[in-house]
Parts: sequence; structure tokens; C-alpha cells
Amino acid sequence: MEPEIVREKMERVTLGRSGLSVSPVAFGTWQLSRRFWGEQSKSEAISAMRLAFELGINFFDTADAYGDGYAESVLGEALRDLPRDELVVATKFFNHFQPDGLRYPDLSPSHVTERCEASLKRLGIETIDVCLLHFYDQMTPLADIAMTMEKLRDQGKIRTFGVSNHNVEQFRAQRRFGDYDISQPAYSFVDTEVENALLPYCQAENIGVMVYSPMHKGLLTGKYTGEETFDDFRGNHPDFQGERFRQLCQAVQLLRPMADRYRLSLYQLVLAATLMHPAVHVAICGIKTPAQVTEAAGAIGKTVAREDYFAIRAALSLGQGTKVVDATGTRK
Ligand SMILES: NC(=O)c1ccc[n+]([C@@H]2O[C@H](COP(=O)([O-])OP(=O)(O)OC[C@H]3O[C@@H](n4cnc5c(N)ncnc54)[C@H](OP(=O)(O)O)[C@@H]3O)[C@@H](O)[C@H]2O)c1
Repeated sequence: MEPEIVREKMERVTLGRSGLSVSPVAFGTWQLSRRFWGEQSKSEAISAMRLAFELGINFFDTADAYGDGYAESVLGEALRDLPRDELVVATKFFNHFQPDGLRYPDLSPSHVTERCEASLKRLGIETIDVCLLHFYDQMTPLADIAMTMEKLRDQGKIRTFGVSNHNVEQFRAQRRFGDYDISQPAYSFVDTEVENALLPYCQAENIGVMVYSPMHKGLLTGKYTGEETFDDFRGNHPDFQGERFRQLCQAVQLLRPMADRYRLSLYQLVLAATLMHPAVHVAICGIKTPAQVTEAAGAIGKTVAREDYFAIRAALSLGQGTKVVDATGTRK
């Protein structure tokens, strides 16, 4: 089938007040950070990014911190000859990189301006569609940050801007100074904290919400038994260790009959259900290979019945073992 025909069929969502039209699944490029994920094949990553576009995924998420610019460069290479007006590229700034490899927070006007130029160059584009503050910087006055973002937007270097890893109070404070339209929090069925305050706030304000780690860094994909060990950052992550890891993996397996009933893989069932939350516009999926992007694209447009949605929540909350689940399937 021609890529154009496939693209027409793919769903698009409006990313809240930003007005951007994007696929509900975004391609996440953190996987190109060797420090976290180990060595990844560059050619496989590029093939996956290009296939994503063919499969209708037009939204790509990166950050200058992913591999200290490496992910942006690879993404730029992959997207170079694709139609620019059909792509939406998000990147983030926060770190001041030092020659010894150490980093410190820096959203000062001169640093953000300099990082923006560097990212544009690596990505090979003239405008960053979605520019995010990667984390909250205590040390830069909020008015200065907002002024910088608005200046970059007025200069045409960024199209929209927002935040990542901000709690609702931090986000509310930023928005008193500037036109922040987008939030990028962590969210999955085993990490539902943002449901308490941030997601309701975003919904009320029509903020574009692009959640990250919807598969809880691979744990919810259904491929792990709980016996695996990891030589990437997950080797030090508490949810990938011992009894907790085993319980979570067993909980995911409880969903297999439901996935079969919907003719979806476990991955697709969890992703489709994650996207059903009305505050969530986009799930950013961490992708390493063409096979993984094909699976992610297969979840777009799928939904499950309300009772199954809550059964998924309950199953994954029970996987936490020590937690009590309330009537909404939320951990307490
Ligand atoms: N703003 C922030 O601070 C922040 C933080 C983290 C992430 N992000 C963004 O969000 C993206 C997604 O986050 P994440 O990487 O944590 O996401 P995730 O989607 O929860 O997990 C991704 C991992 O799942 C596994 N996987 C992916 N597709 C699979 C498939 N079809 N079948 C089986 N396993 C599969 C891969 O690892 P294995 O194959 O090794 O299991 C992959 O690395 C990142 O790439 C990044 O763009 C942003």
C-alpha cells in the first residue's frame, strides 16, 4: 500500500490549545541515549523512524540531553528528506553540559537561546514545533524563562512551548508568566500520580498532554517474565528488581486473555487503554526497532470497553502487591 494512503487513514488528534495536529502515538528517541539504554544500532533507529512516518506517525519526541545531542542528530538524519510540513518535532532543554560530562540545570536566557540554535542545527530544521523545559529550574526567574520562550517563538525558531516533569504547582506558576500550551509528564497504569492534580488541571485548561513511558520503560509490554536482569539503567530501577518486578510481570500476563479477545498484543492493549484517558492526547512510545514501531502504530484508533479499561487498571494496580485499589482502579 502507498504510504500516502496509509497516512490518510491514520488518526490525528489536536494537541490541546497548541492546535498542532499529531498522531496519538509519538516516536520517542530517548533509546538513543547510551548512558541509559546502552548501544543501539543507528541504522535500525533510522529505519524505525522512517517507518513510523510511513505508518502515519508524524510526531517525534527528542531532547538535547538524549545522548548529549546524539538522538537529535540521528532524528535529523532520519527526517531530512521527509515532507517537513507533515512532521511535528518536539525537543527539550534544561542541562548545561560541561566538558567533563557533568551537567547542571540552566534555563537562563542566554543558555536556552544557545541550546535552541544547536538543536535546530542538529535536527536540520528551521523551527522546533514543540519546545519543552525538560525539568523545573529553581534558579532562573520564571519571567526570564517565559520571555526567552516568547522571543524564540516571535523569531520563528519555535512554534509552541511547554514543560515536562513539572508538577501542577510548578506548571501553574510558569503559566502565570507565559503561554505554555503543552505538558509532558510520566504516566502509565503503574505510575498514575499525575491523575491526582496535573491531568485534571490540563484538561480544564485544554493543555496538550503528551505522556511519556506509557509502557513503564518496557515493563508493560508483556515480554518480561520477572526473571530477567538488565544491563541498562533498568538494572538499578526498583520496579525491575526481585519480587516487585515478578509481581508486575505476572499482573501484565493476567491481561493476555483480554488482549486476545480484542485481537491485540498485550503491548497494544495497554497502549490503547492508556490513550483512552480524556486528558491524554498523545503517548510517546520508546522505540528501538521497526518491529516495535509497527506494534505501536497498531494500537492507534483502538479502544476497549469501559469495564475492560477498569479491569486493566485493577490488574496492574494489584501487581503492586502492597497497594490497595479503590473503586476506580487507582492505587492508594
Ligand atoms: N520528558 C522526560 O523526562 C522523558 C523521560 C523519559 C522518556 N521520555 C520520552 O518518552 C519516550 C518513551 O519513554 P520510555 O522509553 O520510557 O517508554 P516506554 O514506551 O514505556 O518503554 C520503551 C521500551 O519498551 C520496549 N519496547 C518498545 N516497544 C516494544 C514492543 N513493541 N514490544 C516489546 N517491547 C517494546 C523497549 O525496550 P526493551 O526492548 O529493551 O524492553 C523500549 O525501550 C522516550 O523515548 C522519550 O522520548 C521523556
